[in-house]
Amino acid sequence: MGLYNFTRSILFALPPERAHHLALLGLKCGLVLSAYHRDDAVLATKLWGMDFPNPVGLAAGFDKNAEIPCAMLAQGFGFVETGTVTPKPQAGNPRPRLFRLVEDQAIINRMGFNNLGLETYARNLKRRAGLGKCGIVGANIGANKDSTDRIADYVTCLKRLLGLASYFTINISSPNTPGLRGLQDREVLDELLGRLVAVRAQAAGTLDFLPPLLVKIAPDLEADKRADIAAIVLKHGIDGVIVGNSTTGLRDHLVSEFSNRDGGLSGKPLFELSTELLADMYRLTGGKIPLIGVGGISSGADAYRKIRAGASLVQLYSALIFHGPGLVRTIKSDLTAALKNDGFSCLQDAVGCDVITEQNMTVTIFHNPKCSKSRQTLALLQQHGITPTVVNYLDDVPSAEKIAEILDRLGLEPRQLMRQKEKEYGDNNLASNHLSRDQLIAAMVAFPRLIERPIVLAGDKAAIGRPPENVLKIL
Ligand SMILES: Cc1cc2nc3c(=O)[nH]c(=O)nc-3n(C[C@H](O)[C@H](O)[C@H](O)COP(=O)(O)O)c2cc1C
Repeated sequence: MGLYNFTRSILFALPPERAHHLALLGLKCGLVLSAYHRDDAVLATKLWGMDFPNPVGLAAGFDKNAEIPCAMLAQGFGFVETGTVTPKPQAGNPRPRLFRLVEDQAIINRMGFNNLGLETYARNLKRRAGLGKCGIVGANIGANKDSTDRIADYVTCLKRLLGLASYFTINISSPNTPGLRGLQDREVLDELLGRLVAVRAQAAGTLDFLPPLLVKIAPDLEADKRADIAAIVLKHGIDGVIVGNSTTGLRDHLVSEFSNRDGGLSGKPLFELSTELLADMYRLTGGKIPLIGVGGISSGADAYRKIRAGASLVQLYSALIFHGPGLVRTIKSDLTAALKNDGFSCLQDAVGCDVITEQNMTVTIFHNPKCSKSRQTLALLQQHGITPTVVNYLDDVPSAEKIAEILDRLGLEPRQLMRQKEKEYGDNNLASNHLSRDQLIAAMVAFPRLIERPIVLAGDKAAIGRPPENVLKIL
């Protein structure tokens, strides 16, 4: 990245938006050398009927008007997302509206969907098709700021662009168009997705290939909104979710000048929040639809964590500003090494492996059928569709190691797990201060009636079902 250090010193001397235009111009005129090389086979992925040579994509917003998708693919990206495009051209918010937070390795933008409009965008995509398709190029569609019918704007964009893009992203998460994020609300999202799926279905007979529809969500979503979105996306058969856009929060720990500017924050500080949401969406959708992980990726290790948290593909934007296009190659080679080091022969095998879903979570209950709390807890698990492994622990006594593990998971001392009213407790003088942890555990193995019940183990967590509802917290 030596060359980029020099280029960066020139670009960073300019206001950020001017630097961006200069970079686009350089790419358009072929001044940025192509970095094509064959990707390692471990990075290849087939999704939605398309062959992705590698999972690292360019996020939306860099090439808003679809002017340089082929030049960006030539930088080594596995796919490029263009847009956001709106039906009518619009200028966006007044400048300055783009800020570099160098010390934080972050960007704040409030561009406001500045773009040349749908016709120019469609012409640009068509030209690419005329040149012979250079790779996978997605179209990110949105609504005009002054629109009176936002859903109609998405429909207009999709109808015009069907056949011109490899996939579509329904962007309902930009923080810079007032009210746009309201499209993530249950009823309106239901209507929006229903309309767009119907538009695509109507065009099915006229297209060689039915492009996947993806939804791009905000990282600032409460738990109930996340669950609503997952349910609606599954209901409409949406093909994927991009997690996610820039955040309106996370300002507290920033140190750079401009950190108090209004707009969406992206880059390094967004990594943890967006990865946590990604893992949650993977859980909520049961790993049934591909997710694209975006937010704060600046290394192969970051990309790998997103994949393990449920991303089938990743995208980045902000880190490109700080590290230049050579970063794409570094990410790919570090990701290849990480996958091989962990014994994965293909990337898809690593997707979501850090996430405990209902499918891969084993639930065990240490059960005493004579105890009402134990019976109630078992019934509660079953009501929630969970069929736990039932261990009748009075007959099938857990080992000392297992009890020690349960104590660690619960964060309890041995006596806190013991039923001190049982006869064996007094008979064996177990209240004595002289007894060690190991001796108390040995007493529970010898007299399992002493063990508090019911204990439920789920994934790497544990809970005692007193009251039974306690166990729902660990599922
Ligand atoms: C200057 C700028 C403009 C952006 N414009 C768009 C956009 O038009 N549409 C969109 O969906 N996301 C847009 N984004 C968000 C990015 O696509 C991405 O979701 C976000 O920046 C998080 O990724 P990062 O941390 O790698 O930058 C923009 C981001 C930046 C920095």
